[in-house]
Amino acid sequence: AVTRTFSIIKPDATRRNLTGAVTKKLEEAGLRVVASKRIRMSREQAEGFYAVHKERPFFADLVAFMISGPVVVQVLEGEDAVKRNRDIMGATNPANADEGTIRKEYAESIEANSVHGSDSEENAAIEIAYFFKPDEIVG
Ligand code: CMP
Repeated sequence: AVTRTFSIIKPDATRRNLTGAVTKKLEEAGLRVVASKRIRMSREQAEGFYAVHKERPFFADLVAFMISGPVVVQVLEGEDAVKRNRDIMGATNPANADEGTIRKEYAESIEANSVHGSDSEENAAIEIAYFFKPDEIVG
């Protein structure tokens, strides 16, 4: 089925002017950008977005990184969008990412790993609603 997922192009990628390069990989993988905006996340926004990780040792660094520069939040649409996006992103740690994936080509480290993608359709709906109003999404 055609579904939606949520994506973030992270500060390490915007800093290196890779917004277009990352988006091209998403489009080539069969995903369509149906909403997109470049924002600087507030600390509160980043902490809320990553609340599920708040007890993890990397939480403080992760939040600091995500507010260290602009990000591009996007809604992606396509056949089986969550899985399709996770496949083209590659493993969280770029050292484990498959050839041809975004993280293999562009990520700097497990933290500065260029992209975020929802891990389930349920979380995709939550994450999309966290950053977008319904009328900002144009399918
Ligand atoms: P993301 O998909 O955005 O979700 C949580 C993020 O935490 C993850 O990508 C990584 O960028 C970041 N992170 C930093 N350190 C770690 C770690 N040791 N294990 C997992 N994720 C980490």
